[in-house]
Amino acid sequence: MSNVKFMSGENVPLEMHKVRMVQKVNLLPVEERLKCIEDAGFNTFLLQNRDIFMDMLTDSGVNAMSQEQYAAMMQADDSYAGSETFYRLEAVLKDIFGMEYFLPAHQGRACENIISQSLVKPGQVVVMNYHFTTSKAHITVNGGKVEEIIRDEGFKISSNEPFKGDIDIDKLKESIARNGAENIAFVRVEAGTNLIGGQPVSMENLRDVSKICRDEGILLVYDGSLLGDNLYFIKIRDEEYRNVDIKKITREIAALTDVFYFSARKLGSARGGGILTSNEELYLKMRELITLYEGFLTYGGMSVREMEALAVGLEETMDFDVISQTPIMVEALCNELLASGVPVVTPPGGLGCHVDAMEFCSHIPQSQYPAGALAAALFIASGVRCMERGTLSEQRNEDGSERFADMELARIAFPRRVFTLSQVKYTADRLTWLYKNRELIGGLEFVDEPKMLRFFFGRLKAIGDWPQRLAAKFREDFGDSL
Ligand code: F0G
Repeated sequence: MSNVKFMSGENVPLEMHKVRMVQKVNLLPVEERLKCIEDAGFNTFLLQNRDIFMDMLTDSGVNAMSQEQYAAMMQADDSYAGSETFYRLEAVLKDIFGMEYFLPAHQGRACENIISQSLVKPGQVVVMNYHFTTSKAHITVNGGKVEEIIRDEGFKISSNEPFKGDIDIDKLKESIARNGAENIAFVRVEAGTNLIGGQPVSMENLRDVSKICRDEGILLVYDGSLLGDNLYFIKIRDEEYRNVDIKKITREIAALTDVFYFSARKLGSARGGGILTSNEELYLKMRELITLYEGFLTYGGMSVREMEALAVGLEETMDFDVISQTPIMVEALCNELLASGVPVVTPPGGLGCHVDAMEFCSHIPQSQYPAGALAAALFIASGVRCMERGTLSEQRNEDGSERFADMELARIAFPRRVFTLSQVKYTADRLTWLYKNRELIGGLEFVDEPKMLRFFFGRLKAIGDWPQRLAAKFREDFGDSL
């Protein structure tokens, strides 16, 4: 938000927009919420929207769009090849990122498919600050291995470190020395480490990583899906950039990378995705795969209406009042929770508030998925849908054993400009109640476990009757309240 001080001195996350279209939501009684989560196999992905009060599963494809985005959608030029819309979007991207070529794709993971197929050879390593579920899946499917070299600080739940997403430069040098530059398919930097608290990457770190990559002849791939939040944190946490124009920072980031890709379901608050590069040889290689998997070059699996919305959404990402809205709401929720002793990742990151389930549910072993259990319990207690980001979201090791996640987080995501402060306070209230009653939460076990990206469709059951006891306690404490 812009500089607005309250007379009271209170730090209020003020909305810099007004709501002009609304969607009614349902808050079901606790007994019905219990039934819904049971029917969903205790997997919040399998809940139905009609049963959800606040959908805080993700910020992907669910952000509020501006009137300018909707207006732009009306001028979409619908043609298979050579669409005016494509050239409009391409021009905006060139202006913002300063990169030569643009390849459209239907979403972020489609970009990851194209990039991994083009760059990863079997046995090679991809070195990164931290993996994202789909990015890792595409690398391993192509025979590559992921190596994570985030600074140790990145794994600390409580910290004052402003840029916990930074790569550990010593670990990077060590990895190159051990693997050999030729065996590293690329280095991947993820803006706003999704799985470990939405933590940003500093400009200084990106500059250092870029220099090493260029000296060693290794490609640097940047996942900019969460660039908007990262830009906000650079502005407010890095003195050097406080007064630098957001577009200038964006150009600087892009210039340090060889490939910049993003999910437009997040960046630009539209749908779709894209890959940018100035490397002609690589562009031509990836272009072949675009036509194979995505569609013709001038739409790449996106609807032209979404492309128009994206062009405007990207321009709006250069506006501080737009990109500040999620992080200030995340911070407000984190602060309310911290005041009640609820363990959350600090400093507050982008994307959402990340509750430390390992601590919250310290009585539940990691093998019983504490973050998944917490996500299910929060739904029972509130009708708020969040997402497990812990062991459930991991792939099993090659020998079939569990790969325990570095962190067990329940991610309460903030769709951009969707929820109001009173709704955020409701979430904090119910989560605080849950924390006071945390001993009632129990573990989960799989009933049906898919091999790949199991968290999407996997079905689980509660170990014991804890969900029933939790719902009964809610009724006891809240009387006839929903
Ligand atoms: N990279 C990052 C950092 C992401 O957060 C996501 C998606 C992707 C890539 C893949 O993009 O969904 O358009 O295919 N994250 C969503 C989430 C799914 O809920 O965090 P996609």
